[in-house]
Amino acid sequence: MTHLTSSAAQTFKSLIRLLTPYQRPIALPALNTAVLWRTTLTGAMALTAAACGEVQPETDAGADNAPSQEASEVNVYSGRHYESDITLFNTFTEKTGIKVNVIEAGGDALIERVVREGDASPADLFITADAGILWRAEQREIFRSNNNEALKARVPAQFRHPEGKWYGLSKRARIIIYNKEMGLPEGFRNYDDLANSDNVETICVRSSSNIYNQSLLASIIAHEGEAVAEAWARGVVANFARKPQGNDTSQIEAVAARLCRIGIVNSYYVARFVGSDDADKAAIGDKLGVLFPNQEGRGTHINISGAGILTHAPNAANAERLLEFLLRDESQEAFAIGNNEYPVVASVAPSGPVAALGAFRADDLPVATLGANQHSAVQIFDRVGWP
Ligand SMILES: [Fe+2]
Repeated sequence: MTHLTSSAAQTFKSLIRLLTPYQRPIALPALNTAVLWRTTLTGAMALTAAACGEVQPETDAGADNAPSQEASEVNVYSGRHYESDITLFNTFTEKTGIKVNVIEAGGDALIERVVREGDASPADLFITADAGILWRAEQREIFRSNNNEALKARVPAQFRHPEGKWYGLSKRARIIIYNKEMGLPEGFRNYDDLANSDNVETICVRSSSNIYNQSLLASIIAHEGEAVAEAWARGVVANFARKPQGNDTSQIEAVAARLCRIGIVNSYYVARFVGSDDADKAAIGDKLGVLFPNQEGRGTHINISGAGILTHAPNAANAERLLEFLLRDESQEAFAIGNNEYPVVASVAPSGPVAALGAFRADDLPVATLGANQHSAVQIFDRVGWP
């Protein structure tokens, strides 16, 4: 972990201030209160990009962690990229007077950035998809614990860190899709059926380097142990219709085009097609059947988008207020629907296209446990030759 000395931190901040021409603030249409610096960072670029001034809080907020001196702002590093999130941040500003500054990049790149910035980091809140990424962030020790009872009351224990290092904000399911014209193989009900030797050359799925597959396999390890999980992964590889490629959208398009009979994808990707206003996308959605696996057993694998307050957050109290705001009923609906996800707060009903996919039994495995099996999952993928 990189810790800058006090003088180095000041030099770092001065450097950032000098390089403001690289800053690209985008004024948002509704209210001019949230500012978005869009970035295209990769992990290797993180420090360079930081030094190029793409992180530029409007005040020297990182200079003092004392709550009494907090600026009236909060700095968010987000792995989510939805205008609906920005609209929510604007509403938060309108209600509280606290300005929200947002840096968007990939979750892993943002973790690297926070680590490299060390105690000079302006970041207050880290938001990302997938509990596996939250676990990686936790391993880099970038979070502080926050045991605010209001937050704990809103987020079921299954969807938050046991020591309050992060809280779920929305949920997604990793589901099975199939080409409706081709149909599901007879008796196909569970994740186990993906590995059945009767189903050779049927499956499209993305690479094992993707966190969604790592978390799914981590859940199978948690439930059934490594040996069973490895046999499962080996069986799935034997049933590939093509070499893993593309993202979940690619799998949907391949299933619709009959390149494969079955796909493994996250629920929100399906909802994007099924609920699309675009006729071509809706036509693809029409070709898809949806199976929520393991309905007679442990339930379908669930993951989250979530957020945690950072160790060196200069505006931690404001970050806590923003978390509370994102967990209010009205925010939950908007936050979830922005990416066709399910609200994490139990009393808020799903809405939009994802609700039309139907109710289902969800796995009750605490998502905080997924990270513990992530390393084993990656090793299994390597051993079985899942690229
Ligand atoms: Fe995704």
